[in-house]
Amino acid sequence: MTTQITSLSQYKEEYKKSVDNPEAFWKEQAETFTWTKPFDKTLEWNFDEPDVKWFLNGKMNITVNCLDRHIEKRGDQTAILWEPNDPKAEVQEYTYKELLAAVNRCANGLKSKGIKKGDRVIFYMPMVPELAIGLLACARIGAIHSVVFAGFSAQALADRVDDAQAKMIVCSDYNNRGNKNIPVKSVVDQAMDIGCNSIETVLVHNNTDGDVEWSDDADVWWHEIIAGQSDICEPEIMDSEDMLFILYTSGSTGKPKGVVHTCGGYMVYTCYSFRNVFQYKDGDIYWCTADIGWITGHSYIVYGPLLAGATTMMFEGVPTFPDAGRFWEICEKHKVNQFYTAPTAIRALMAKGDHWPAKYDLSSIKMLGSVGEPINEEAWEWYDKHIGKGNAPIADTWWQTETGGIMITPIPGVTDTKPTYASYPLPGIQPVLVDTEGNIKEENNVEGLLCIKFPWPSIIRTTYGDHERCKNVYFSAFKGMYFTGDGARKDEAGRIRVIGRVDDVINVSGHRMGTAEVENAINEHPNVIESAVVGYPHDIKGQGIYAYVISQNQQTDDTFRKEILDVVKREIGPIAKPDMIQFVNGLPKTRSGKIMRRILRKIASKDGDNLGDISTLLNPEIVADVKDGALV
Ligand code: WT7
Repeated sequence: MTTQITSLSQYKEEYKKSVDNPEAFWKEQAETFTWTKPFDKTLEWNFDEPDVKWFLNGKMNITVNCLDRHIEKRGDQTAILWEPNDPKAEVQEYTYKELLAAVNRCANGLKSKGIKKGDRVIFYMPMVPELAIGLLACARIGAIHSVVFAGFSAQALADRVDDAQAKMIVCSDYNNRGNKNIPVKSVVDQAMDIGCNSIETVLVHNNTDGDVEWSDDADVWWHEIIAGQSDICEPEIMDSEDMLFILYTSGSTGKPKGVVHTCGGYMVYTCYSFRNVFQYKDGDIYWCTADIGWITGHSYIVYGPLLAGATTMMFEGVPTFPDAGRFWEICEKHKVNQFYTAPTAIRALMAKGDHWPAKYDLSSIKMLGSVGEPINEEAWEWYDKHIGKGNAPIADTWWQTETGGIMITPIPGVTDTKPTYASYPLPGIQPVLVDTEGNIKEENNVEGLLCIKFPWPSIIRTTYGDHERCKNVYFSAFKGMYFTGDGARKDEAGRIRVIGRVDDVINVSGHRMGTAEVENAINEHPNVIESAVVGYPHDIKGQGIYAYVISQNQQTDDTFRKEILDVVKREIGPIAKPDMIQFVNGLPKTRSGKIMRRILRKIASKDGDNLGDISTLLNPEIVADVKDGALV
């Protein structure tokens, strides 16, 4: 197993080692895994191309490391503990042995439908064990999985399928969420009507016995393809740098991009970071509430915990069903030891009152994690007091889809914590703050743009099908550095606080959204002439979506508002629906015709009296108009 740091002096020592000699450091960690053929070089890198390779020529399979290698020692230990949406429904448990068998059966089933190494398989599924099994089955046979969050629309699903040129979609019939039964298969059917020409098979997991329309051409039942399959499936031998998965995420421009992670580096880093950040000990019950549709679920529900031989819980439902005590009830029921959630959930539950957590015994909780967006001080204090009872250190974990794993975080019981600070880099991570010219600010007590100046094993390798885009977005802003898109500050002790995005990406309830993407959706409405979208502070969601819309024939009624919301829902999904729509007569623009978002952001953030010099705008007269009509 990878090293688990248990003291401050050890952290300092490991950190120093990882910077002084990164290759020796990671070689030692990587050698703790099972390799079919050992790697012959630890690292080759160049941030200009970019071209980063870890554990070169090593041959392996990540599922051997997640499953097979644990069988001897912990074959009968629970690997996945599944808590259903309905608290009265039955919990499911898969031991490591059972999980391996299930993965192998599924892998054989996928093969029987012609899926082979390198093929892309899209997952559009609720949080059921079959989702984790399906991902691992792909990894077993070298197929590349790409999970699309089941809240995305048919259009968004089709866009991703087409970009990945996927051969198969795996979905369920319906999805249980709270008191709703949400159709899933019918959304896939719609996506198939819009696009998805590369799809040969739609594999349907019967989750709720619901009615579905069936196409004999493409549709196949999950239970039918696994029926009679062997429990044994020889793992495909993968190169360290073969693709493991693609995960689509939003950027400042254009359509979401497919972030590519590869087998070897991702394996080493997710295991290493999981063991250290969560301080997982044998016998612990670990719970991350994320959805597997996001990177958090990939790295810290599926791969990291299983690589580390942990018991990982998967929850099908939502925090407020049947009531706002659900999370805490589950913590008590399963005696959860590590609890990892998002600030937006903390704020939403905090608003429901302290009596909810007070009803349950939370004494099993040893540490708390936070992820996805900056955690405000009030939420941090509440989490600490009402959930951790003052003795469960909070790991405010900063990272990104592109980083593959947690980068900056306190290590519970090892380094100190400070509200709103992600604090310290994990060993192997070299963050720096730079000014707009890319000069590194070495001193403490400064603000700057957050970059990482040295590669780590799970760094993004490319954006699928468009390497130039990867280069432009992450490696061109500052030469020789990976640019995160975030602004940050360092306190007097060098602890890092991530303030938020400095690009046109907004973070709504921990979900990343490109303003351009939302604008493009809004502009699909035939009566919209132009729109501009910005984020604004929102009590629960962190950021809300504020849209300024110029309408054809001055239409500004609520019916039109609703139509716009429907278009966004259709193009992207309900999570991208603007919270505010302000109809305007014009948008402030530069002389070259670029929308001045800075001004729009200020107005939406109630800071409209503080706009600075606007005289250089193409149309300064419009600003007063926009300000007057502000909805905040
Ligand atoms: C963006 C990445 C990390 C997995 C889930 C989100 C923001 C993430 C924190 C944190 C402040 C944070 C950043 C980052 N973010 N964690 N602890 N403190 N900001 O992954 O969808 O790729 O979003 O989320 O702005 O760039 P993602």
